[in-house]
Amino acid sequence: MNSAGRIAVLASGRGSNFEALCTSDLGGASVVLLASDNPSSGAMLKARRLGVESIPFDPGPGRSRVSPEAEKSLADLLVSKSVDLVCLAGFMRVLGGALLESFAGRILNIHPSLLPAFPGLHAQAQAVAHGVKVSGCTVHYVDSGTDTGPIVLQAAVPVLGSDTADSLAERILQEEHRILPEAVRLHLGCRIRIDGRIVKSRIPDGPA
Ligand code: GAR
Repeated sequence: MNSAGRIAVLASGRGSNFEALCTSDLGGASVVLLASDNPSSGAMLKARRLGVESIPFDPGPGRSRVSPEAEKSLADLLVSKSVDLVCLAGFMRVLGGALLESFAGRILNIHPSLLPAFPGLHAQAQAVAHGVKVSGCTVHYVDSGTDTGPIVLQAAVPVLGSDTADSLAERILQEEHRILPEAVRLHLGCRIRIDGRIVKSRIPDGPA
């Protein structure tokens, strides 16, 4: 199904998920903007190389949150750019206010574990330290908690006895690059219905 759609990406680091979104089939939608709390991030460099508008922003004094003022400015900016969907792609801060209000039900996050296991930072290291045999990644809608919102898609990978956090992260990342664009296509193709915290996607023989 084709659908137009304007996507903004928030990223703090390397930017491989941002790049995957820019180079994937998004069913007619496109990434129009990258905003980063880290002006020297790999994501910012990639945006310049890919010709995507890139905007650094100051998140304020907190280490893990975006200040209410910064979040309001960012929300106003994204509204002014007629953004339809916001994707958090390696964005390492929790949102709490204006963005959630302006884009309720329109913010997706990719997280490198099978939520609700291992939310927060260093999810792959948490998985290795816990001794799980299977891990993976999750795309979910964003709410005011840390990685708590309704789950759209998940993909599993094996955890090997020889794995380090880095080797597991690399295996999970391949799946992230696949399911984040897929979730965007589902959302913008209006093939998703949210019932409480249950996300139902209309894919024949697809996940529940
Ligand atoms: C990805 O593994 C993403 O899932 C993770 O950060 C990495 C960013 O890589 N996000 C989180 O841990 C959020 N809690 P990238 O910059 O190459 O896309």
